[in-house]
Amino acid sequence: MALIELSGIRKSFKVGPGEIPVLHGIDLTVHPGEMVSMMGQSGSGKSTLMNIIGMLDQPSAGSYRFEGVDVLSARNDEQSALRNRKIGFVFQTYYLLARLTALDNVLLPLLYRGESRRRSEPRARALLDRVGLGDQAGKYPNAMSGGQRQRVAIARALIGDPPLLLCDEPTGALDATTSQEILTLFEDLNAESARTILIITHDPSVAARCRRQVHIADGLLYEPDTVPPRMAVS
Ligand SMILES: Nc1ncnc2c1ncn2[C@@H]1O[C@H](COP(=O)(O)OP(=O)(O)OP(=O)(O)O)[C@@H](O)[C@H]1O
Ligand SMILES: [Mg+2]
Repeated sequence: MALIELSGIRKSFKVGPGEIPVLHGIDLTVHPGEMVSMMGQSGSGKSTLMNIIGMLDQPSAGSYRFEGVDVLSARNDEQSALRNRKIGFVFQTYYLLARLTALDNVLLPLLYRGESRRRSEPRARALLDRVGLGDQAGKYPNAMSGGQRQRVAIARALIGDPPLLLCDEPTGALDATTSQEILTLFEDLNAESARTILIITHDPSVAARCRRQVHIADGLLYEPDTVPPRMAVS
């Protein structure tokens, strides 16, 4: 069964009296264990599409099945529950809480769910270890490098063991070497658990490390062999 099945997804934003159309009918099927990059010019609608896939926003039209479940006919609270259990998010700017240690940042999603600290802490420590920060659990984000902060954010995204990681320009604020190290971590996470990973990026060297690459242009989605030449380089 497919993990993600988008069909005919359209999205317009109401602005004042008018509407700005952004997505014009996106079809995309992603199977469990795929690692997919998504490229496209600034403003092409990548984050808009990711917000729809991540159940943070609703499309204007189309259908969306996640693990076979019809997402768009689910109630809001059902969508939230699905999102919390099934999707981890990683963003360019980390969104770590400065007043919390690395360990507590990773634990936070489980504490919000009402799980006890005592039961959750071993898993959070194991994940920090997994992302290479086993000895940094007590550090505060401000005392960490960008790459380390992103590793904390990745551990936090994994704490609920979601089958899907959605990453919006996860290396956008990192230097080239650190970006490649983060990609190695994503590759390992993808390989060892068949976790599905979708990475939005502007960086061709990041996209090149994903087995499958899709592009968004003019509100539509293209795969490499269907990309018109003028859009092939973005
Ligand atoms: N909430 C909103 N209200 C109105 N317009 C919006 C809203 N969100 C996005 N847009 C518009 O939709 C278009 C696509 O935006 P989106 O953020 O998805 O682009 P993107 O491909 O992620 O760009 P970038 O690479 O710069 O992050 C842009 O024209 C943007 O201005
Ligand atoms: Mg964006």
